Amino acid sequence: MQEALKILALNSSPRKDRGGTALLLNTFLEGAKEAGAEIDLIYVDDLKVNSCLGCFTCWVKTPGKCVHNDDMAELLTKHQTADVLILATPVFVDGMTSTLKAVLDRSIPLVQPFFEVRDDHCRHPPLGDRKQNKVVLVSVSGFTELDNFDPLIAHVNAYCKNLNCEFVGAILRPMGAQLQVFKQMGIKVDDIFKAIKQAGRELVQSGTIRPATLNTISREIVPRADYIKAINVSFQRQLDAVK
Ligand SMILES: Cc1cc2nc3c(=O)[nH]c(=O)nc-3n(C[C@H](O)[C@H](O)[C@H](O)COP(=O)(O)O)c2cc1C
Repeated sequence: MQEALKILALNSSPRKDRGGTALLLNTFLEGAKEAGAEIDLIYVDDLKVNSCLGCFTCWVKTPGKCVHNDDMAELLTKHQTADVLILATPVFVDGMTSTLKAVLDRSIPLVQPFFEVRDDHCRHPPLGDRKQNKVVLVSVSGFTELDNFDPLIAHVNAYCKNLNCEFVGAILRPMGAQLQVFKQMGIKVDDIFKAIKQAGRELVQSGTIRPATLNTISREIVPRADYIKAINVSFQRQLDAVK
């Protein structure tokens, strides 16, 4: 029997299972599970992950082992054995959450200190015979334009090249926190939820996600001017309530 695809999903939203990140990620994971994947979902805020000290002990004194004694050691083992790593984050000040960044910083024990040229670029060789994971980015933004994700995509893409992982694609939902609200208001978003689930199935079945599926997930829901008006009314109400 063929082994199930192992997915390690890291949700770094501080709102954990109550946020737009969770809605997007969990719907995606439902599709992946239906297609036979084995899922390990972790909320980064439940972990104790100290900041990297930049001491390089993990490179030159105890190769592969960090000086910190926290939850990162177990996470690195899971990272090494997973087929797919899902990095889920809301856009926070044009990038990923600081908690997810701390996790990525702490992944340097997975590479060796030496420099080499790979694809005409300076890189570190991997440590040991690590499985080449696939990586998927899952992200929501408050703003409307898709280019709000550009710095984050560039970062995750570079991370994948440095860690010798394959960046499969990005599941992006602008106005992500409002997706459930749109649904409750009766605005048609069923095709978006279906596409998110479909993306999970496609990842397991083909190792990729079709551009058409990704486009549906990110499609415009309401015109920008209407969205801005509704958001501003909501914030004004909240401010008025504390006067
Ligand atoms: C500290 C902070 C910074 C944010 N920065 C951005 C930003 O740069 N661009 C953007 O589109 N949304 C930004 N947002 C909005 C979040 O991406 C949005 O509210 C998202 O839905 C939060 O994810 P969650 O629902 O999982 O909590 C920011 C929110 C917070 C709290």
